[in-house]
Amino acid sequence: MKILMVCLGNICRSPLADGLMRQKVAQKQLDFEIDSAGTANYHIGSQADKRMIATAKKYGVDLSTLRARQFEVNDFDKFDIIYVMDKSNLQNVNRLSRSENDKLKVKLILNEIYPGEHQEVPDPYYGTQNDFEEVFELLDKTTNSILEKYT
Ligand code: 4NP
Repeated sequence: MKILMVCLGNICRSPLADGLMRQKVAQKQLDFEIDSAGTANYHIGSQADKRMIATAKKYGVDLSTLRARQFEVNDFDKFDIIYVMDKSNLQNVNRLSRSENDKLKVKLILNEIYPGEHQEVPDPYYGTQNDFEEVFELLDKTTNSILEKYT
């Protein structure tokens, strides 16, 4: 299974989803490929946001090696599932799709724990430590669900 996690900047939410998922598949020695990307180009080459790195570290997840990159059209060919964090990411990725098959790969990540509700992972970038903690809790729970679903 090849899974791509996508948000806007690829420095807060999708790196965390990526790091959590990488750690979980490694622990279970699963043959998964995990990556993340942002729809925007603001932070290409940057490390994840320091607040996200610190929050993840607190719970034993290392995000320090990840570097931001921008989503590109050939990601539709490289990945089986493209999980987006919010509806704006969904629109941005769908806009780049070339076919119905591309579109079928794109899913709102929180629909895995709240099926059919189309909830969004809130963007913590302009938020407080509490917002980073909330994102951690949501994505920890959701990555567990994804793992259960596909193993
Ligand atoms: P992310 O958060 O999409 O979760 O990485 C953001 C990071 C940066 C910006 C917005 C959201 N920004 O406007 O620079």
